Amino acid sequence: PLVSSTPLLQEARKQGYGIVAFNVHTLEMLQAVVEAAEESRSPLILQTTVGTVKHLGIAYIAGAAKTAAAQASVPIALHLDHCQSFELIMQCMRAGYTSVMIDQSMHPFEHNVAVTRKVVEAARALDVNVEAELGKVGGVEDDIHVDEDMAALADPDECRRFVELTGVATLAPAIGTAHGIYKGEPNIDFERIGQIARLVDVPLVLHGGSGIPEAQVRRCVSLGMAKMNVATELKNAFTASLQQFFAEHPGDLDPRSYMSAAKQVVKRLAMEKMELCGCTNKA
Ligand code: 13P
Ligand code: ZN
Ligand code: NA
Repeated sequence: PLVSSTPLLQEARKQGYGIVAFNVHTLEMLQAVVEAAEESRSPLILQTTVGTVKHLGIAYIAGAAKTAAAQASVPIALHLDHCQSFELIMQCMRAGYTSVMIDQSMHPFEHNVAVTRKVVEAARALDVNVEAELGKVGGVEDDIHVDEDMAALADPDECRRFVELTGVATLAPAIGTAHGIYKGEPNIDFERIGQIARLVDVPLVLHGGSGIPEAQVRRCVSLGMAKMNVATELKNAFTASLQQFFAEHPGDLDPRSYMSAAKQVVKRLAMEKMELCGCTNKA
């Protein structure tokens, strides 16, 4: 069965590796990252945004993820990414999601605390992991747009107070990464990650995983980032593979042909990310 991501991430933080959470949008993408996890013996977090929940439907996603988990020999969690709605979080938890992100980072601290605490209380009875965000991660993900000048780094002391006040099991502090591919390099505040990690013992979550140079990913993980979210790179690789396939085989209209090619590309990329975060052979 699908498992809560909390113990997986606690173990990762303790041992100094990162578990990769992949945003998937189709059955084939989901299957590709599951195969990648199996082959690299990695724990896995399947992740869907609110946009993908609307696109595929909660029941289809949870059904596919449960099927994957029932067959897999590695632990798999199913996570709802960047959700602002308490109601949708409740629906996903009831349908079988084992991890949820309540994102109130656009609101003042006290409001963020109050709503996150409510989610933590609801999740406790269902043994569901909860993730929350402090500061504002820049860039674009689905309907959430944060301009560069509106992005804000998380304050370490607020992180400490936030975890104490909410009891949240995992924390995503904004530390300079952004959603999407970077123009140039991200400007990561490594010192801040270290300060936060010293004040907060819950696993930390690295958003904006696409496009971060490898050495910087390793450094983030070594400082306490126990989960890395990867969305854009996976989506782009999937779609680019389809574009290439149609350019090379304009007459082949069989989904089983073009989807197989795209699946292999996604699987390879997922295995590279797992290796990068050090979770290969940790299942
Ligand atoms: P990227 O799109 O940069 O990989 O960010 C993923 C993310 O943070 C999902 O929440
Ligand atoms: Zn994110
Ligand atoms: Na990114």
